[in-house]
Amino acid sequence: MYVCLCHGVTDTAIEAAIDDGAVSMKQITQELNVGSQCGKCCSCAKKVLNNKLMQIAEAQPAVA
Ligand code: FES
Repeated sequence: MYVCLCHGVTDTAIEAAIDDGAVSMKQITQELNVGSQCGKCCSCAKKVLNNKLMQIAEAQPAVA
C-alpha cells in the first residue's frame, strides 16, 4: 500500500528501510523522503514504523 503519495513510498519500502537499520522517522525521512513534502503521510508512516519495530522486538528472545 502507498503510504506517501508525494514520493510514491509504500509500506514495504518503509519496512525494508527498517530492516536495513532505520529506527526513527527522521532516518526514514532521510532515506525515503517520507513526510518531507505535504506531511500528510507522517502519522501512517509512524504506524508502519512502530508496527515493524514491535514485530522485531517480539521476535527477539527475552533478556533475563
Ligand atoms: Fe508524504 Fe505528502 S504524502 S509528504
